[in-house]
Amino acid sequence: MKQILHQMVQGMIYFHSQIQDREKSKISNQKSAIKNGFASYNLPVPTKLGPQPVSASRVSISQLMEPAHANLLGNVHGGHIMKLVDEAGALACMKHSRQRVVTVVVDRMTFKHPIKIGDLVTITAEVSYVGHTSMEVEVSVEAENPTSRQRWHTNTAYLVYVALDEKGKPVPVPPLLPENDFERQRMEQGAARQAYRLTQDEQTELQRSAKK
Ligand SMILES: CC(C)(COP(=O)(O)OP(=O)(O)OC[C@H]1O[C@@H](n2cnc3c(N)ncnc32)[C@H](O)[C@@H]1OP(=O)(O)O)[C@@H](O)C(=O)NCCC(=O)NCCS
Repeated sequence: MKQILHQMVQGMIYFHSQIQDREKSKISNQKSAIKNGFASYNLPVPTKLGPQPVSASRVSISQLMEPAHANLLGNVHGGHIMKLVDEAGALACMKHSRQRVVTVVVDRMTFKHPIKIGDLVTITAEVSYVGHTSMEVEVSVEAENPTSRQRWHTNTAYLVYVALDEKGKPVPVPPLLPENDFERQRMEQGAARQAYRLTQDEQTELQRSAKK
């Protein structure tokens, strides 16, 4: 009996020390993650991912517009919405590629309706086209007055992000899998939009160097 009790106590001590070791290593990992910046970036990334459906990249952010978001006219500052749009776009690309990403292009952003303080803004983003290392995202902004329940689609924008490896170099992203005709068509149009952006960029560079 004494021996069984002794074995049980030993077992419990061993179990306890295992838990302590695991907790210690968890805390040390968290500390190094905080020291090195974004914790989630330190997680291992699967090297080769197969085609990813558009829906897997979908992200939705909702935020109540507060006085701190106001411009001098008392409406919501456009820059605040642009920041949310960029964040939602980046998140969609991170979900698609499972890599860190940077913004390369923000296509035209037109604000069709003012957004008021007290409105609930919902930003939805999904990857619409991918190249080799770049991803185009369609981001849509809606504002809702929570009391009247009136909703407005205030703008849609396309942004391009590039996935980067740990050294900050562009890294290939998984192919995009459209799941319906709308997504297929948008993806084809995305290739045309990207070609247009690159041509525009080249022309701007030529004009800039001609000015010197
Ligand atoms: C993103 C970055 C690393 C790309 O570097 P780069 O030397 O141009 O790399 P590449 O030429 O290999 O281009 C990478 C991809 O970006 C795309 N790209 C580059 N410039 C582009 C432009 N003006 N428009 C659209 N796509 C563009 C390329 O077509 C390529 O896509 P692909 O691999 O799908 O064909 C570099 O431009 C950068 O660091 N930019 C700053 C990003 C940043 O800091 N953003 C936040 C701003 S505050």
